[in-house]
Amino acid sequence: MTYEHHEYDVLIIGAGGAGLRAAIEAKQRGLRVGIVTKSLLGKAHTVMAEGGMAAAMGNVYPEDNWMVHFRDTMRGGKYLNNYRMAELHAKESPTRVYELEQWGALFDRTKDGKILQRDFGGHRYARLAHVGDRTGLELIRTLQQKVVSMGTDVFMEHKVLKLVHDANGKVAGCVAYSRPTGEFVTFAAKAIILATGGAGKSWKFTSNSWEGTGDGHAMALWAGAKLIDMECIQFHPTGMVWPLSVRGLLVTEGVRGDGGVLRNSEGRRFMFDYVTPMFRAETAETEEEADKWYDDHSAGRRPPELLPRDEVARAINAEVKAGRGSPHGGVYLDIATRRTPEFIRRRLPSMYHQFMELAGVDITTEPMEIGPTCHYIMGGVQVVADDAATAVAGLFAAGEVAGGMHGANRLGGNSLSDLIVFGKRAGEGAADYIAAGEVAGDMDMSEVEAAVAEALAPFEREEGENPYDIQRDLQEMMQANVGIIRTQSELDYALEQLESFSERVRHIKVKGGRAYNPGWNLATDLPAMLTVCRAVAIGAGLRKESRGGHTREDFPAADAEYGKFNFAHSTNGGNWDSEIVTERSPLLEMPEELKALLEEAK
Ligand code: FUM
Repeated sequence: MTYEHHEYDVLIIGAGGAGLRAAIEAKQRGLRVGIVTKSLLGKAHTVMAEGGMAAAMGNVYPEDNWMVHFRDTMRGGKYLNNYRMAELHAKESPTRVYELEQWGALFDRTKDGKILQRDFGGHRYARLAHVGDRTGLELIRTLQQKVVSMGTDVFMEHKVLKLVHDANGKVAGCVAYSRPTGEFVTFAAKAIILATGGAGKSWKFTSNSWEGTGDGHAMALWAGAKLIDMECIQFHPTGMVWPLSVRGLLVTEGVRGDGGVLRNSEGRRFMFDYVTPMFRAETAETEEEADKWYDDHSAGRRPPELLPRDEVARAINAEVKAGRGSPHGGVYLDIATRRTPEFIRRRLPSMYHQFMELAGVDITTEPMEIGPTCHYIMGGVQVVADDAATAVAGLFAAGEVAGGMHGANRLGGNSLSDLIVFGKRAGEGAADYIAAGEVAGDMDMSEVEAAVAEALAPFEREEGENPYDIQRDLQEMMQANVGIIRTQSELDYALEQLESFSERVRHIKVKGGRAYNPGWNLATDLPAMLTVCRAVAIGAGLRKESRGGHTREDFPAADAEYGKFNFAHSTNGGNWDSEIVTERSPLLEMPEELKALLEEAK
């Protein structure tokens, strides 16, 4: 077969914040850069980080600095983080935010004209630079404008099937298809940066859009890289629960940051009942104390609604299970009692419209019904912090697809800053790799042919199953058995079920032509979804403790032994259904001066 073919120095897969920031860096180094995105430019899960980007700029609280941010991030991640990533992130995020401002991002302002920063869970100080509740959108808009003005090639609606090696095992390119035409396309590149985002679409209730199928995680694993911490999945505490058609849609943490409180069906602010020892000393004990904090943050202790996301999501789950939930299986989030309608509409315009238009709820006068939604995967491709390199020569990863930065639980707002800090570093890393001159040779065309043949197989079967049925069943199975609270029996069942899902995927039948065929597109997503789900379920079964976004009913406490390593997965075979091999990968040894910063927090 012959293919449309393109060649670049750096090929970036994914056009969210990390991919765009990486592209800018590589372009600035004078390289030929191409971006391939499964979706449209400007439409990425980045926009779902609505409330802000965390950076210790000290604009609202001068006491804030990178050391406190580092400490908060490590503590939020329950110390499973790659400390070096957390350190670089805390040190560099302010510069990256100011850079965005120079490139045209229109942040909200303090009275004296500085970038305004808002509160979010787990952050000691108001630290999130924001644009109302549309911060991710502004980040994308700003970076996109810069990328386009620099003359970067962007291949929209191109789904990458597989990374392709050269004869020596280096990454040399990839094979994709165009969704509008169904034609296959090959890309040769000296370096590839994965910036493909997350994998939440394998759960039933998720903030992720159709793109979030874990393609980058899976392709990296198949190509020879390792995945770590895959069991650590973030269930954002506040997604819409009603109407059902929009269940899972994000309700920004900015609502709580700006004064929203959580109540159960009895009207009780239940979060006071769920404060864990790690956060007790700094969390208010009464409503009165918590409310005072909104007037003067530096005096007093923080409201329990601003605990990290893992803690809040578990508490909501427990209230619903105890029969104290709202009519549609969530709890109430109320900002109307504390804030004026004018304040709410100005600070949270998207939330106001979202509830008004989708649920007929006026959040300036009524509480919202919310519940946890699968939002983010902390796990991802194991990378070197400084240059985003993976274990495969020529392959780099940044943003949600990369693991390590957030440990077992990500603090809200640390995602957008992660994207710009490590997007830039990945661009630099790829450029340095190319400058060192040991880049890959020609693509192994037998790998291309194999990927194309596998993608076309569903058209050739006489009969078989509809991919949508498989996806629906997979989402239900993962939600029920690998959700917020896990037990060994359910995880074992999930692993068994995943074997039978693999069998079903081997027998998918797709009808129609290749051009704009969403059934076929989903058929080509399912192998990656299954690879990711298997890695998540394996990690969750092995981690016999509770830590961050991984909660075991049968092992409810953290176990210090499990805090010393990541579970790292690789494959024997490099295909979507190859055996996954899991080992313990020790955490990096942290320098004494950083350890000292953490001691204060314990
Ligand atoms: O709640 C939010 O606005 C989401 C932010 C994030 O995931 O960082």
